[in-house]
Amino acid sequence: SLPNIVKIVEVGPRDGLQNEKNEVPTAVKLDLIDKLQKSGIDEMEITSFVSPKWVPQMKDSKEIVANVKKKGRQFVLTPNKKGVELAQESGATSFAVFVGVSNSFNKKNINKTTDESMQELKPIIEKLLEEGHFVRACISTAFYCPYEGKIDPLQTINLCKKFISWGVNELSVADTIGMANPVESYDLFKSLKKEFPQTLITAHFHDTRKMALANIFAALQAGVDRFDSSAGGLGGCPFAPGATGNVATEDVVNMLHQMDITTNINLDLLLEAIDTIAPFTSRPIETGMYKLYKNK
Ligand code: HMG
Ligand code: MG
Repeated sequence: SLPNIVKIVEVGPRDGLQNEKNEVPTAVKLDLIDKLQKSGIDEMEITSFVSPKWVPQMKDSKEIVANVKKKGRQFVLTPNKKGVELAQESGATSFAVFVGVSNSFNKKNINKTTDESMQELKPIIEKLLEEGHFVRACISTAFYCPYEGKIDPLQTINLCKKFISWGVNELSVADTIGMANPVESYDLFKSLKKEFPQTLITAHFHDTRKMALANIFAALQAGVDRFDSSAGGLGGCPFAPGATGNVATEDVVNMLHQMDITTNINLDLLLEAIDTIAPFTSRPIETGMYKLYKNK
């Protein structure tokens, strides 16, 4: 049976904007975050502490953390020690570490092998947890890799196991390039829910091949009740060629509400929040619900 309540983790201000061609002013990002929070979103990736040479769109992460209206759980992405240090200096308290199951992807994304990243992350995660912070581990290329092709689900589960043994609070398991199909999604999330019944498991779908909503339905059936999504369907990883945006929050929220599943998000306010960012994106926002709203 399906869950009655689903938690949406909004990733637009981070995943959505990290790949945006236009430079989005910091004030617009802060306004977007504020409006998204007012629509009822209370878990969000707000920025990332990564190299400004690699991802110039996130170079204002310090200002974002310092000036954001504190509400709910506000994650910052941190790939390494330096990122966590900078994030803590800014006052961040919820952290998202990220690593690829695929070595080739991790090399392109973080300039380290998966093992090297894991070695670096272990003491960092343990320290953050000791200090009482919330740590989510984002698992990239959990299904497919743009360089290596299909990923063996056992490899994904084994990587998750390591994070769980270190005590992370949440796993966000990602279809980085939007290639997973609903059967694969059901199978992997069913296994993860069975293996790790005590940990929050979140599904992170990109919508490259328009299978994301179907994948969400499959994951719901496997018992998943947390989903990452991006307002306006923006997003994509600059180091995953061919990947497009995340599944759109407004389309996910609409689907869930239509199925009588509660999200605690006000869809009208969410659509209005997207108006904040729409004038600044290089591509028009053409998600199902946003188009309907604009044509009303
Ligand atoms: P590197 O060049 O190998 O780093 O990059 P380094 O350790 O050799 O350091 C080089 C310089 O960068 C040094 O500065 C460091 O201090 C600095 P310099 O001495 O030259 O002045 N540096 C940093 N600066 C700011 N923040 C940091 C940091 N670390 C070092 N954290 C690095 C390694 C990890 C930094 C680089 O590869 C990087 O920034 N990668 C970011 C990749 C990224 O942001 N990808 C997108 C997010 S992941 C994603 O989208 C997937 C997800 O959505 C799930 C899914 O869909 O799959 C989560
Ligand atoms: Mg992503």
